[in-house]
Amino acid sequence: MLKTILVTGGCGFIGSHFIRLLTSDGGCRVLNLDKLTYAGNLENLADVEGRNYCFVRGDIADRGLVERILGEEKPWAVVNFAAESHVDRSILDSSPFIQTNIQGVHALLEALRKHPVERFLQISTDEVYGDREGQEPSEEESVLVPSSPYAASKAAADLLCLSYCRTYGLPILITRSSNNYGSYQFPEKLLPLVLRNALAGMKLPLYGDGGQVRDWLHVEDNCRAIHAVLNDGVTGSIYNIGTGEERTNLDVIRTLCAVLAEHAGTKPGTFEQNIQFVADRPGHDRRYALNTKKIRRDIKWSPGISFAQGLDDTVRWYREHGDWITRVTSGEYRNYYDSVYKRRWQGSA
Ligand code: NAD
Ligand code: TYD
Repeated sequence: MLKTILVTGGCGFIGSHFIRLLTSDGGCRVLNLDKLTYAGNLENLADVEGRNYCFVRGDIADRGLVERILGEEKPWAVVNFAAESHVDRSILDSSPFIQTNIQGVHALLEALRKHPVERFLQISTDEVYGDREGQEPSEEESVLVPSSPYAASKAAADLLCLSYCRTYGLPILITRSSNNYGSYQFPEKLLPLVLRNALAGMKLPLYGDGGQVRDWLHVEDNCRAIHAVLNDGVTGSIYNIGTGEERTNLDVIRTLCAVLAEHAGTKPGTFEQNIQFVADRPGHDRRYALNTKKIRRDIKWSPGISFAQGLDDTVRWYREHGDWITRVTSGEYRNYYDSVYKRRWQGSA
C-alpha cells in the first residue's frame, strides 16, 4: 500500500512545490490541509490533480479536524508548511501569526499525541536565529534571538516541537532554511514584489540602504532537502538549509533588473533606474547566514541550482504568468500594499 503524507499549507509557495515533488513519481499519496488564506491558491497545484492527491480546506488550529484526518487517513508523516510567513505583515498585525504559527502548531502536536505518525517535520526558518551581522553563520544549536513577531512565532513553534519530542517522544524533525525564491511566490516577498512592480513599470522599493545580506535558495533545492530530511533525518534533529552564498539586497535587485532587461530585449538600465530607496523596515535584520555542514554531511544534500540559473527561470516564469500575478494581487493585496508602501515611499531617500 502507498504511504500517505499529510502536508499542511500546501497551497502556498514552498508547500505547492513540495507537493509537486512528492507526486511526481507516484511513490506516495498526498493529503493537503490548507486554510486558503490570502497566500494559499488552489491554482498553484492545478497540475497535480489526479496524481494520488487530495485537498482538504481547513485550519491546522482546528484540533478536531486534524484529529479526524489523522485518525481516518493514518498518514506515515506530517509536514507542516502552514504559517503566516511575511515579516512586514507581522509588523502590521501579529495576531494571525500567534494564532497559526503557535496555536496552530500546538494543535497539530496535541493531535499527534493522540494519533501518532512516524515523522513530523516542522518547516522553520533562519530568521529564528536573528541578526548575524558580525557573527559566525548560525549553527543548529545557536541561541534563538528572533527580531520580528514572525520570527518569534516561528521560534516559539520550534521550541514547542522540541519539547514534545523530549517530553512525549514525538518523532520531530525541523528544517530551517534561508530565503527561498522561484515560481508561485506571492508578490509580497522581495523578489516577486520587485518582479511584479518591474513588469508593471512601477518603482522598485529597497528598504534602508539595500545593504542587508540574505542567502537565496531556489525553492526546488529546498524541497529536495526537505524530502531528504523527511526520509533520512534523525528524529529530534534540526537541519539548516542554505547555499552559503551571501548577497546584498541591492546586488540581488540589480542582477534581477539586468536579467529582466535581457528577457525584455531592452537597454540594460531600463529596470534598474526604477530602484527607489525607501524607509527601512522596523527591527530589520542586517544579515542572515547559516552554517549548513550538518545537512551536507549527514544527509548528503547540496544545492543544485545556481543563482544565475534560478533567477533566469524565475524571471521567465513571472513574465509568462501575468494572469496569475493579476489574480493573486486583486482584492486584499491592494490594502496590504498601501498599508506597507504608502508610508515607505514617503520615507524615500
Ligand atoms: P506562504 O505564505 O506562501 O504559504 C502559507 C500557506 O499556509 C498558504 O497556503 C496558507 O493558505 C496556508 N495557511 C496559513 N495559515 C493556515 C492555517 N491556520 N491552517 C492551514 N493552512 C494555513 O508561505 P511559504 O513562503 O510557502 O512558507 C512555507 C513555510 O516555510 C512557512 O512555515 C515559512 O515560515 C517557512 N519558510 C519560508 C521561507 C521563504 O523564503 N518563503 C523561508 C524559510 C522558511
Ligand atoms: P523578504 O522577502 O520579506 O524576506 P525576509 O524578511 O524574510 O528576509 O525580504 C528580503 C529582504 O529584502 C529583507 O532584507 C527586506 C528587503 N525588502 C526590501 O528591501 N524591499 C521590499 O519591498 C521587501 C518586501 C523586502
